[in-house]
Amino acid sequence: MSRVAEFTTLWRMLRGLPDAGSHAARLEAFYRPQAEHYDAFRERLLAGRPRMLRALALRAGQRVVELGAGTGRNAEYIADVVPGLQSLTLVDLCPALLEQARRRAARWPNCRVVEADAAGYRDRNIDRVYLSYALTMMPDWRGVLDNALAMLAPDGLLGVVDFYVSEARPPRGYVTHGVWTRRFWPWWFAHDGVHLHGQVLRRLHERLDLEFLHEGRAPLPWLPGLTVPYFIFIGRPRR
Ligand SMILES: C[S@@+](CC[C@H](N)C(=O)[O-])C[C@H]1O[C@@H](n2cnc3c(N)ncnc32)[C@H](O)[C@@H]1O
Repeated sequence: MSRVAEFTTLWRMLRGLPDAGSHAARLEAFYRPQAEHYDAFRERLLAGRPRMLRALALRAGQRVVELGAGTGRNAEYIADVVPGLQSLTLVDLCPALLEQARRRAARWPNCRVVEADAAGYRDRNIDRVYLSYALTMMPDWRGVLDNALAMLAPDGLLGVVDFYVSEARPPRGYVTHGVWTRRFWPWWFAHDGVHLHGQVLRRLHERLDLEFLHEGRAPLPWLPGLTVPYFIFIGRPRR
């Protein structure tokens, strides 16, 4: 990524998500100017994506959906598995990022790119649904989670990787973050329409039987010495 592209992307992120308009219009205004460089910039920002995808145990013949798929970058991490899947559907609400996803998906006849709100997209009998750094950007994240669970086949798995901060008193066995972490990171990310809190992990914990959990911290470009908390959660819907 060139220095100029990096500064342009950083500038858009510093300007933040616009306040006015529908959610879709705000996403488009935010991402359109950075869509071309999105992948290169986010490569160093979004930790744990390959690990979440490995933990999902993707297999030939499965039907797989990514909600909030953006440019479809995650499909590259599983490029060896994609041709064997029955289908891979990439859902997102932002046309600028979906243009990149369509270009990328053209080489896989079983990969579909759909413009839709993750809370409203309907499908059924899906083996794997995953969200990568997307739930924190979705205002109706509870509705999106309900929708993801409703889509899953009885033995399906849901995978989520995202930034977060813990609740002051998280469920037993989960990481507790100090007050500075719980205040600083939500403030830092809110500007870009990314809302960090502990409720997502609690909700996942309540609605799914845990298969795999990792709570880690990752460095961020341009913020030397600081690390932001992220989690990987894989679970089976509780029926
Ligand atoms: C930080 S990006 C992550 C993209 C991709 N999952 C990745 O790992 O590179 C968040 C994505 O969520 C999408 N998004 C936000 N709200 C959405 C919604 N309600 N329905 C569908 N996609 C949404 C954005 O357009 C954006 O592509």
